[in-house]
Amino acid sequence: MFGPVVEGLEQSGSANNARVIIEKPFGRDFASAQSLNQILHSAFPEPAIFRIDHYLGKEPVQNVFYFRFANSFLEPIWNRNYIESVQITMAENFGVSGRGKFYEEAGAIRDVVQNHMLQLVALLAMEAPSGVDSDAIRDEKVRILKAIPQLDPARVVRGQYRGYRQEDGVAADSQVETFAAVKLTIDTWRWADVPFYIRAGKCLPVTATEIAVELKRPPQAVFGEVEPPQSNYYHFLISPFVKISLVARAKVPGEIMRGEEVELVAAHQASDEMAPYERLLGDAMRGEGTLFVREDSVEEEWRIVDPVLGNVSPVLEYTPNTWGPPEAEQLIAGDGGWHNPAPGVPPGAS
Ligand code: BG6
Repeated sequence: MFGPVVEGLEQSGSANNARVIIEKPFGRDFASAQSLNQILHSAFPEPAIFRIDHYLGKEPVQNVFYFRFANSFLEPIWNRNYIESVQITMAENFGVSGRGKFYEEAGAIRDVVQNHMLQLVALLAMEAPSGVDSDAIRDEKVRILKAIPQLDPARVVRGQYRGYRQEDGVAADSQVETFAAVKLTIDTWRWADVPFYIRAGKCLPVTATEIAVELKRPPQAVFGEVEPPQSNYYHFLISPFVKISLVARAKVPGEIMRGEEVELVAAHQASDEMAPYERLLGDAMRGEGTLFVREDSVEEEWRIVDPVLGNVSPVLEYTPNTWGPPEAEQLIAGDGGWHNPAPGVPPGAS
């Protein structure tokens, strides 16, 4: 639909000195995203095109970028020497909510992995930009996306919640995934061999998006404790409220050198924040492009997911209100398993 609209805008002269805002989905694979970019460029120069990924308008997502580059304590450990693995979970405890027809065309990989999830990976993994202008930041983001190899179907688990096929607009034999778990790597000096896991799905037990950056264990177990896996990590809770925390071990009072998990938390209530679309539409009207997805990034995102689109791997049924098919656990079993977000109540709420 974007194509005919853009052509119409050009033919009527409305594209002259104008800006265009494009909502996702931006194409449905690498080839269609490329041809859509060509159509757009026939009427609008790249700086006049504002491709929305509403995740970028979210305050907690901007906080990931800010927290990384406003604190020097993070930099020495933010690499393969200290980080064991990174995982992102985007869980929703509801189904396709009347959007069955749209979802049949999309599926979880196109709907949220290609865009929101890969943008989070880029923010977590990118190098510091040389400035704060929109192209300096977006140059670094695309540089890291370029270093991500295409997804391997053997490292992707697709799931479909039981009951999806009875939703309005959904085919009785639909193979579309409402859940996806993927493993990716980033071929840079900073990230070589650090696995990045993404898991996103509908009808999961909670609604929350959370990043967990797991740190390596100390080189020796000085206290002889059998520490539980995943006892030292950073958490970035993106929704339902903002929370950044460092989970660490501290001594339990008493004569024995025994530890417990403690959480050092920075959190705030999201009461007075601008809604993502409010922020993004304001930025687009001012011509400020930092929070929009540039042509090269959107094509890189499609390049990464292209080999796993469609029915290249089987879709596995899961029971609503569970964490997806058991195969998703196997995908990450060698790296200590998934952190299941349990956001609790926002700070200050009773
Ligand atoms: C949209 C997807 O882009 O993001 C939806 O199409 C998803 O399927 C939504 O529910 C989640 O965004 P938010 O801001 O509601 O967490």
